[in-house]
Amino acid sequence: MSMLVRLPILLALLLSLTVHAAPAPDQQAVASAHPVATAAGHLILDQGGNAFDAAIAVAATLAVVEPYGSGIGGGGFFLLRQPGDNTPRYRFIDARETAPLAAHRDMYLDQANEPQRVINGPLAAGIPGTPAALVHLAENYGVLPLAQSLAPAIAAAEDGFAVGESYRTLVGFRLAAMQADAETARIFLQNDQAPASGSLIRQPELADTLRALATQGHDGFYRGPVAERLVSGVQAAGGIWQPTDLENYRVIEREPIRFDSRGFEVISAPPPSAGGIALAGILQGLEQLPAATPGSVQWTHQLVELMRRTYRDRAVLLGDSDFIEVPTARLVSAEYARQLAAGVNPEQATPSTELGPPQPFQEGTNTTHFSLIDRQGNAVAATLSINLPFGAAFTVPGTGVLLNNEMDDFAADPSGKNSYALAGSEANAIAPGKRPLSSMTPTMLENDGQLAVLGTPGGSRIISMVLLGTLQAMDARPVTEWVSRPRFHHQYLPDHIQVEDSAFDSRQQAALQALGHSIRPVGRDYGDMQALLWDKRRGELSAASDPRGEGEASVQHPIKPD
Ligand code: GLY
Repeated sequence: MSMLVRLPILLALLLSLTVHAAPAPDQQAVASAHPVATAAGHLILDQGGNAFDAAIAVAATLAVVEPYGSGIGGGGFFLLRQPGDNTPRYRFIDARETAPLAAHRDMYLDQANEPQRVINGPLAAGIPGTPAALVHLAENYGVLPLAQSLAPAIAAAEDGFAVGESYRTLVGFRLAAMQADAETARIFLQNDQAPASGSLIRQPELADTLRALATQGHDGFYRGPVAERLVSGVQAAGGIWQPTDLENYRVIEREPIRFDSRGFEVISAPPPSAGGIALAGILQGLEQLPAATPGSVQWTHQLVELMRRTYRDRAVLLGDSDFIEVPTARLVSAEYARQLAAGVNPEQATPSTELGPPQPFQEGTNTTHFSLIDRQGNAVAATLSINLPFGAAFTVPGTGVLLNNEMDDFAADPSGKNSYALAGSEANAIAPGKRPLSSMTPTMLENDGQLAVLGTPGGSRIISMVLLGTLQAMDARPVTEWVSRPRFHHQYLPDHIQVEDSAFDSRQQAALQALGHSIRPVGRDYGDMQALLWDKRRGELSAASDPRGEGEASVQHPIKPD
């Protein structure tokens, strides 16, 4: 490489933001989608665990008490921060499900007789990654035995948890599929209907499966009696899992996406998530455009135009980087963001069809997120999923494991010719062992003054929600506003700005329409963001849970002597 070519890279390195070590927060914070899971996180921290032990407790407890959002039959991503001696260290654990070895590119094309098999039942399920991630965290990052960190989840499965309104609403979306599977109906319904609010859901088989994981680690789930039950139960119901699928499953540690924006380093999810790449394009692109007041029509227009472009890249270029060439470095670069921004017309929306041939995609909407930090400054942002509410609505008999339907996140028909027009790109075509493209975007942003940790469920809207939360953090808004701010979203196709009712007033709406935007209210609020802020200069933690959900965020301060 010539010196001339190397110079911009060297300059970029010299100019890139370095975060220096800061005193530890000496407080702890947990924000999760369920109060029982938040309590589990604090309990493990109080017992001497670090953030990674607490992450095991929160993730496993959410798997029990939020069976509609995540589970040990699913997968997800954990973004980790360790304080380091001079500068923080970030790691990314990819526990995304993998396609079974017997899966193939066209397996859902012939859907004439069973159009729902990519959604319901065992054929919809990828090989779960969450159990492997819990073991990996305990073995490589935690300080407590796995059994101790899993104890709160085992207790919740054994003793039961009380049904809340989210549970009942989400059963409403999936009732027919849940009724169709005897084991799912037995465990999660009452008389084949949504259980009454406050009824207890007990999961003794799931408690046993968690115990096997607690005592035998990886082999407790991926080999031996639990694995045998999983494979035979899946096959008996028409699925294609084999013992080797489970034996071969491994989490992958990846380098997170990292870039600078507005005086912060942003650390986020790499492929197979689209999240970090999209955030890089939008946030760095926004810096190239004329400054606009947050919330103004021009600011909204700029964001929407950048979302439109990065979501198109997502549909065309992104997939599992272990299987396809993803031009990550180029897409995350400031130069690429300049190109994106250069295409934005300040006076006119660009019709999405002008950006190239259509590449629609679809993605499940239910998932969960938690954010936590311990007294030493170890932090975790984790987004976990089983895809649709209650996943594939198929529970493997004798295991309590409700399976994901994450196979639906692949492009079911890469050529776009199937009868459901569920087009997608070759980049995200099904292949044995491949991970489906995801929008899950656990994210941190940090500088010498603050650390922000955030994320949310919400399918393809995850990225735009995290974007809006990130902008609030950069604008030094309180953490309660990051999670509660009204939301809008554009994902290239369909070519509409999707909005919560309170996102725009009538004047803003008219002004956006005059720029050529089509606006579609989504009919209900969306997302369930869990976020925390460490203000290093003041030595303060604050945490917030999305008011749209039933979660709980809390900070525990050191006990002060009298
Ligand atoms: N299944 C939701 C996601 O991965 O984004």
